[in-house]
Amino acid sequence: MCGIFGYVTNKEEALGPILIEAAERLTYRGYDSVGAATLNNGNIDLRKDVGKVDAVAAKYNIAEMRGQRGITQLRWATFGEPSQVNSQPHIDSDGDMVGAHNGNVVNNVELREQFIAEGMTVRSQNDGETCVHAVERYINRGYEFIDAIRLAYGDLEGDYAFVIGRANDDKLYAFKKGSGMVVGLGEGFTCVSSDLPSILPLTREVIRPQDGEIVTLWADKVEVRSVKDGKLIDRKQETVTESMDAVQKGGYPHFMLKEIHEQSQVARELSHVLNGNKEVDVLVEKMKQARHLYFIGCGTSYHAASVGAVYFAQLAGRAVIPVLAPQFVPQYAPTVNHEDVGIFVSQSGETKDVLNALEAAEARGMACFGLANVVGSTLTKATSFSLPLCCGYEISVPATKTFTNQVVTFLYLAYKMAGLDTRELDIIPDLMNKTLEMVAPQVEAIAKDINDWNDMYCLGYGATYPIALEGALKLKEITYAHCEGMLSTEFKHGPLSAVSKGFPIIFVSDGSAVPLIISGINEVKVRGARTIVIGEEDARLRANGDDLIVLPKSDPQIAALLGVLPLQLLSYHMSVMRGFDPDFPRNLSKTLTVD
Ligand code: AGP
Repeated sequence: MCGIFGYVTNKEEALGPILIEAAERLTYRGYDSVGAATLNNGNIDLRKDVGKVDAVAAKYNIAEMRGQRGITQLRWATFGEPSQVNSQPHIDSDGDMVGAHNGNVVNNVELREQFIAEGMTVRSQNDGETCVHAVERYINRGYEFIDAIRLAYGDLEGDYAFVIGRANDDKLYAFKKGSGMVVGLGEGFTCVSSDLPSILPLTREVIRPQDGEIVTLWADKVEVRSVKDGKLIDRKQETVTESMDAVQKGGYPHFMLKEIHEQSQVARELSHVLNGNKEVDVLVEKMKQARHLYFIGCGTSYHAASVGAVYFAQLAGRAVIPVLAPQFVPQYAPTVNHEDVGIFVSQSGETKDVLNALEAAEARGMACFGLANVVGSTLTKATSFSLPLCCGYEISVPATKTFTNQVVTFLYLAYKMAGLDTRELDIIPDLMNKTLEMVAPQVEAIAKDINDWNDMYCLGYGATYPIALEGALKLKEITYAHCEGMLSTEFKHGPLSAVSKGFPIIFVSDGSAVPLIISGINEVKVRGARTIVIGEEDARLRANGDDLIVLPKSDPQIAALLGVLPLQLLSYHMSVMRGFDPDFPRNLSKTLTVD
């Protein structure tokens, strides 16, 4: 997730160290490129490149940069590969304005074409540059700066926060739509950032602008105006009292809980990016023509691939083979050729097992595409193209928001394959929030009840089968208990003998095969199991299960996706109740670059 920071003081001073320290404090958001710009007496000094903050700062001697205003940005690539030209900040055509953003401008491609046609100099593919030209367009047409920003805001679609300054000026301007932004007020300076952690060591006095508000920053004051009518808004100053650690976790006790609650926001950002992405159409066409389709990944990413395979069958009538990446090599690689299409799924884009499978597939001429969170990772570079997951940095080792965005991407692709209206999926983010609100207290109570058990099962059917596998993986990963995920109908073929009084068995229902789930519940209940059912309100499920964790009403495919949220919360609470740190489970690492 990109991060921006802007700083305004009243005279030229050494801003380099301030910008480097602010950039360091933004690194927890994840990034691949770093940039800094200072503005002073009509001059702009801009230095930027791909790499870590310390490496880029040392290479370009950012510490020596001086000015009366400064901007720094950390970029997490979405539009345009990680490269020096795509790094931020960006200048306008004449080089007398400089700006940087975080978030996604989803009509980036269309706007860039318009700017080029209007004679502007567009240097990169990055949507941060698009924000700069969006303001430049109206300056060229003779508008005052604030009015140019107001009009640019109307042109820029998506979720983002943006800061911009002119060389011949003493102010910075910032505005936001959908992304976080905080303004800091200190002794002799003001600053603006994507988040609090980069501001807190400088000042605890802040203002929190809302969407559709433009902030003008001078060294000794700020002004907030409405984009709609340009009128001043009285946004109150507040004093932050929380610790830095609490602030970094967004007020949540762990990154995992924060990331669980970020799922609706990243799903919204993802749908913006998918809607505006021409590569989606190319991929869908390729998949329609394909002889065989493979979705390939490991761990959680494999579970998302498996949910995707069910969606493709149910919605588009297309068979897909979901494969654990290492098994692809012996079982499928010898059979594939250029008529087959594979989507390689990975949060990190660096999982060795996935890269090995990719190598084997490419050797056979298969058409290979990626679905990855880290743009610029080995997977995204090695495939024809890769769709971004748009989740920003996932700090917690257990994958949560990247899983749901993988599933949402597959659902979106299945809709496209089937010729369905993808706008029907716009309700997903709200349903995710609703689910978390509805299930949270009940899930915590159930976690307490079953926390003494070190053996459990999680069962599903159809699209909820891989959801059950994912729930079981989460429970194993961070509670260290044994939890097996299974197809509900398989339980009677052996594991049934393990059931004893109180034995916890979780069932996940998407509402499409309730009688089958009810049979499964009764098979284990009569043998003493404690049955916990996740599904929509249904008198039959309520009458048969011991607990019903109710999901909001939706289509079966969306219900399956929502079913993972209570499982994420259950594993989180059980992990914390056991005294473990869910963010960093023992023996595990976020990225597995070994065989
Ligand atoms: C999930 O919680 C795990 N951390 C793990 O299963 C993970 O999904 C797997 O290692 C694959 O990683 P990737 O998505 O980065 O390829």
